[in-house]
Amino acid sequence: MSSALPVLLDVDTGGDDALALLLAMASPALDVRGITCVEGNCPLEQVVVNTLTLLDAIGAPPVPVAVGMNGSIIDDGLPPPALHGSDGMGDLGLPKPRRNAVDVHAVEFLRRTLADAREPLTMICLAPLSNIAMLLRMYPQIAEKIARLYVMGGTYASPGNATPAAEFNIRCDPEAAAIVLHGGLPVTLYPLDPFMQVWFTESEARALAESTSASARIAGGIGLHYCRFFGAEYSLIGDAGTVAAVIDPEGATVERWPMRVELSGSETRGATVFDRRSARQRDYDDALWKGLDVVTEVDAPRYRRLMASALGAAHVLAE
Ligand code: RIB
Ligand code: CA
Repeated sequence: MSSALPVLLDVDTGGDDALALLLAMASPALDVRGITCVEGNCPLEQVVVNTLTLLDAIGAPPVPVAVGMNGSIIDDGLPPPALHGSDGMGDLGLPKPRRNAVDVHAVEFLRRTLADAREPLTMICLAPLSNIAMLLRMYPQIAEKIARLYVMGGTYASPGNATPAAEFNIRCDPEAAAIVLHGGLPVTLYPLDPFMQVWFTESEARALAESTSASARIAGGIGLHYCRFFGAEYSLIGDAGTVAAVIDPEGATVERWPMRVELSGSETRGATVFDRRSARQRDYDDALWKGLDVVTEVDAPRYRRLMASALGAAHVLAE
């Protein structure tokens, strides 16, 4: 009987989603039951190709990959950001995928997988929440089969990245985020605050890229791409930090606060608004402002070690 945590991943592969997939597929702590794709970092078709390409490149087992929403619920989403490269995954030149996606929509795949699971499953959501919101709206009872959602998104105290107030995943589909995050489900939010804390240096990325491990070479190639794009001497592990927090929760500081997603602000649409006032000051209807767990900071050296070890390249870290 495996002690690995059964998980589902929702991605918009993207370079840092690829880093997250490398970690999730390499970690003995996780049992990846399925991967669902959604438009975000790049157009949906490219997200699917990148996800399948990555799994082939590391010789992953035949984990099901399903194609989901090709846009946000109210389509005022954001254009694909340039930072992931022209193919959305660091332009590594990996061979085209041989494996295919399953022939059911991601929402139906999630419903079936959750319904058929013996125990509730953990969902790791690294992209705009369009697939997850549609699942919850179409099949509300399926929430009983969700153990917890770990969501990369939003900001706690840091500025946004997509706009001054909003983080990309939430701003891409704010209505979807509201459906998922306002509903009182067991959520752990991994916002930009910890997201920005964990990186590899350029020289560590170069050492990864020269490693004998395929996973490490891909991670290093992605890291070097981000270093070049930003003209920086380091690159974030991004979404992989969310997976690290699932694998090793001891490395994350978690607080619980009421939070709402801003839907209508002309400058603040997609912001995650945390109410950190004292309970006495909260003079509103608690039914609206549901509390959720939020990672406020992480032990970055611990997660760097976790990531490098999972890639079979612990030796590259310049500690
Ligand atoms: O804002 C960062 C998030 O948006 C990451 O998940 C990145 O992959 C993009 O989806
Ligand atoms: Ca992502």
